[in-house]
Amino acid sequence: MGMKKIIRIWDLPIRLFHWLLVACIIGSVITVNIGGNAMQWHAYCGYSILTLLIFRVLWGFLGSTHARFSHFIPNRVRLLNYLQGKSPKVLGHNPLGALSVLALLASLLFQAVTGLFADDEIAFQGPLVKYVSESIAGIFSELHEANAGVIYTLIGLHLAAIFYYQKIKGENLVKPMLVGDKEIDPSEEANYAPADLGQASQDGGLQRGLALLLLSLIAVGVGYLITSS
Ligand code: HEM
Ligand code: HEM
Repeated sequence: MGMKKIIRIWDLPIRLFHWLLVACIIGSVITVNIGGNAMQWHAYCGYSILTLLIFRVLWGFLGSTHARFSHFIPNRVRLLNYLQGKSPKVLGHNPLGALSVLALLASLLFQAVTGLFADDEIAFQGPLVKYVSESIAGIFSELHEANAGVIYTLIGLHLAAIFYYQKIKGENLVKPMLVGDKEIDPSEEANYAPADLGQASQDGGLQRGLALLLLSLIAVGVGYLITSS
């Protein structure tokens, strides 16, 4: 009977990024289905998503341990070992989960950027449409439409994976994404690589302040991009 180890995995910036992203995606899908005047709100959701994604990419370099790309992007060997069930449990994104994270981030970034050049051929145009010809805008609109299907598929897989971990592997991934911490029972410690257990994410005032500053600068930049044109 020892004490449970409580380890910070997801810093507050990552958690806020995740749940704001979810809210904005729901908002963008609802508004695009309403159409008409709601397209303006589709665009606002899209700009917010773009801002969040740029933040996430930078946080992948400047953020805390488990937020860093260098920490979770797997090489071929690690991925193969994981797929063959030969690797220890990991605290942050596992090698396969890491690939789905990258696919989600890339496809969402692509969606937000193509949206800026898209035209619904009724009343709403992305703010950068004026820089491209009508036929190019048509191509961007079609890419935007087709990629929405890719995103829905990836979100479906994401939710299925989380459900699988909960029901089959008995591991709750959602709680750490809400509160930040993983609780490791002493009896489970042997399932992890010892080095991994020593690596908590820094999540103090310094990190949070830096994240807020970054997010603000990015928001100003995105605001400038969409209004100055
Ligand atoms: C619009 C739908 C969603 C999108 C686009 C999305 C996207 C993402 C992304 C990009 C990450 C990686 C986090 C990072 O390192 O930046 C992530 C992780 C995660 N998401 Fe979502 N998410 C969605 C919905 C949900 C929902 C509804 C839940 C809970 C039921 C959830 C639970 C999680 C969890 C637990 C992780 C961490 C997985 C791990 O431990 O490796 N997500 N999600
Ligand atoms: C990642 C963020 C975004 C998501 C998830 C998203 C999603 C969608 C979806 C699902 C559609 C409907 C496609 C269809 O079936 O016709 C759509 C259409 C559209 N979106 Fe977005 N969008 C995003 C960002 C943006 C942005 C930033 C803008 C521009 C400000 C934008 C402008 C448009 C326009 C103009 C259409 C109509 C295109 C057409 O009718 O062909 N979107 N979006």
